[in-house]
Amino acid sequence: MSLMPHNHQMFSVVGIYTGREDNVFWQRKGTTIEAVAAKSLGAGDVATLGSDAIHSVLNPIGKMTCALHVYGGDFFAPPNPRSEWDHETLIEEPWNVEHAKSLFREAEARFAASRG
Ligand SMILES: [Fe+2]
Repeated sequence: MSLMPHNHQMFSVVGIYTGREDNVFWQRKGTTIEAVAAKSLGAGDVATLGSDAIHSVLNPIGKMTCALHVYGGDFFAPPNPRSEWDHETLIEEPWNVEHAKSLFREAEARFAASRG
């Protein structure tokens, strides 16, 4: 599964307890974003993201990655609107929770199909 660049508009802490997720961290550059760092998280790893963080997340393995996420506010109704960036064009768009949910549903369906 690959989740496009997005922000949270609040701090967050992610603790992985199984699997792996590769994070790419992005920074605004003019009207777009550029990748500035990466961190691969496995079981037992913790990442702290500041309120201005922009990241994309990739699960590079063939099994579920599970983590605890703590957010510094209302994830679904942050004080400032959230954004996501198109993976191909890196154009900023308003965060669309239905888009994110559909990506998770599609990934779960691929996972289920891979297990027969
Ligand atoms: Fe995120």
